[in-house]
Amino acid sequence: MDQPPASAARLRVLSGIQPTGRFHWGNYFGAIRQYIELQDAGDAFYFIADLHALTTVRDPERLRGFVRDAALDLLALGLDPERATLFVQSDVPEVTELTWLLMTVAPMGLLERCHAYKDKKARGLPADTGLFTYPVLMAADILAYDADVVPVGEDQVQHIEVCRDLAGTFNHLYGEVFRLPKPRLVEGGAKVPGTDGQKMSKSYENTIEVFEDLAAQKKKIMRITTDSRPMEDPKDPESDHLYQLYALLAAEPDVAAMAALYRQGGFGYGQVKKALVEATATYFAQARQRRAELAADPQVIDTVLAAGAERARAAAGAVLDRARQACGLGRRAVGARA
Ligand code: TYM
Repeated sequence: MDQPPASAARLRVLSGIQPTGRFHWGNYFGAIRQYIELQDAGDAFYFIADLHALTTVRDPERLRGFVRDAALDLLALGLDPERATLFVQSDVPEVTELTWLLMTVAPMGLLERCHAYKDKKARGLPADTGLFTYPVLMAADILAYDADVVPVGEDQVQHIEVCRDLAGTFNHLYGEVFRLPKPRLVEGGAKVPGTDGQKMSKSYENTIEVFEDLAAQKKKIMRITTDSRPMEDPKDPESDHLYQLYALLAAEPDVAAMAALYRQGGFGYGQVKKALVEATATYFAQARQRRAELAADPQVIDTVLAAGAERARAAAGAVLDRARQACGLGRRAVGARA
């Protein structure tokens, strides 16, 4: 049998992102920035998780629009299709077949403990099996590409643990089929706070989108919640979500100066918000310009995604084949040995 290489010549990097709306700062600083950074660290595969998005987006035109926007946003933010493979999840049907193979070794209890399903159930909302088995599809996504490293935010770590569990069980039953991946988090970006101080997330309605217009961003920034301590009090910058956001976006010397100002006291949060508005305009200026250029040529996206799908299918096909053979699917010539 074709085994996973024991030590890969090149690091395999893989990650996925859902097209459920426009990307926000949490997506960017937690994940996308890592995608860009890692595209030269090895063979990088990044995909737009439209199958996962189907568990929440039930409008076909919106979903198609989100997928295109996601591709445009990723390219504008620096993902380079010459250096990384960018594709759409549903263009690789090998992954859905692999999901079934993994489903046969996925204990109910393991999936019941996964937070997306657990949270929905706790809120008394009806959950479908798509949401329940979501982590199995995600495991297939990762294992299908022999990924070593999965750059993500903190909220995805549990899913990567599930992936490792399922891969371990499958390997235990059928031999060394899958390579075990590790999550990769970045300091300061693993849990980006939203405008209310909780984790930035669409479901909390506390997001600031990367490419929304500057006036809308300014409005949201000016409404970021702050505490009511007197202006003159010294404050700990690290524990303030407004400062944490500023630290992600501003230039290093400005961040250091802001931290000093917090510790010294005698400043207003309005002043910090104004500085954050300026920092975001500068930080994403180039990406905004690039996005406008890319959007002018709709063909680019189709070409990039088609080439990406081809490369991704080749990689996933090899792994699926290995898994099928290992568990007894497919016909092997009589007398042939593994
Ligand atoms: P998704 O689409 O919710 O989020 C995409 C990426 O953004 C990160 N992220 C954050 N990071 C830091 N702070 C935040 N506030 C924040 N909000 C979001 C997420 O951690 C993620 O890395 N299940 C995945 C998509 C997926 C996937 C995969 C990821 C499907 N298959 C295979 C990796 C590998 C998800 O829903 O991410």
